Amino acid sequence: MYLSHPDIVLLLHPILAVTLLFPVLGLVVNRAWETRRRRLDTSEKSKIPASVGPDHLKLGEFFTAVVVGVSLLGMTRAIANGIVTDQLWSKAPFQVVFIALIYAATLASLVLLYKARQRMWRGIFASLTGMGLVILGFFNNWVFRRDNEWYVSHFYFGLAAALLMIFALAIVQDIYRDRTNTWRKIHIALNVIALVLFVLQGITGTRDLLEIPLDWQKSAVYSCNFDPNSPDFKTCPTPPANK
Ligand code: HEM
Ligand code: HEM
Repeated sequence: MYLSHPDIVLLLHPILAVTLLFPVLGLVVNRAWETRRRRLDTSEKSKIPASVGPDHLKLGEFFTAVVVGVSLLGMTRAIANGIVTDQLWSKAPFQVVFIALIYAATLASLVLLYKARQRMWRGIFASLTGMGLVILGFFNNWVFRRDNEWYVSHFYFGLAAALLMIFALAIVQDIYRDRTNTWRKIHIALNVIALVLFVLQGITGTRDLLEIPLDWQKSAVYSCNFDPNSPDFKTCPTPPANK
């Protein structure tokens, strides 16, 4: 096997996305579809059990935690790498403590969002969870965001999808209470967009994985020319002649 320790760390995030996140997404969407079909089925006895709505909710709650966790994990290798290469612990230890606090606050806000019942608190904890993801994603420009090509960026699509899941969790009670179904319609519209974003995450994530070299190949690959304005764009130093 050609994998070394940094390669395995890099793979943890895609592994969790593929083996846990996407399968759970399939279940969430299946129950969502059944919930809708059951609600719109006007016949006396629907063949679809009444449990599909609560099932969708339970899976959705779990799914939000998985998406937030996988997104944090996606950023963590870059952040840890930034701390080490910038020697932040010796140069600005308070920033390291700040980063650790933001991680803790993000997770704590998510936990409190699950527990909060009052509308105001749900709004506050949802905003804090989302803010945590944004702050970590933009901290010191460590996470690769693809700013100049944001429309094909794994970072921006992933962040948007995570924020939409946090929002879905925040409005659960509104969906149930609202007799006019407005919140339900908002939920459907936003999460159809989220579904597209998840597909794009599968596409942009696999692309990114292909672009990142294996650890032992890095010195060779990064000596190539990545500057689109240079006449030598996409060329690499010629390897030494075979002995
Ligand atoms: C990609 C993810 C998701 C999609 C595509 C989706 C889509 C849907 C759809 C189509 C419905 C049925 C609407 C209708 O009755 O016509 C629904 C209902 C609902 N969704 Fe989601 N949803 C997603 C994620 C979530 C999440 C993460 C949560 C909360 C944590 C959530 C909470 C709910 C609730 C509470 C209902 C009402 C269920 C009921 O009537 O018993 N959904 N969703
Ligand atoms: C819905 C699922 C996913 C979400 C929400 C998500 C989210 C994220 C986020 C927020 C980042 C940090 C920004 C960045 O470096 O671009 C990231 C990094 C990354 N993701 Fe994903 N991702 C998902 C699925 C995937 C999949 C399926 C793959 C590959 C098969 C993948 C591969 C990567 C790679 C290679 C990185 C860079 C990691 C690093 O620099 O250490 N992701 N992801």
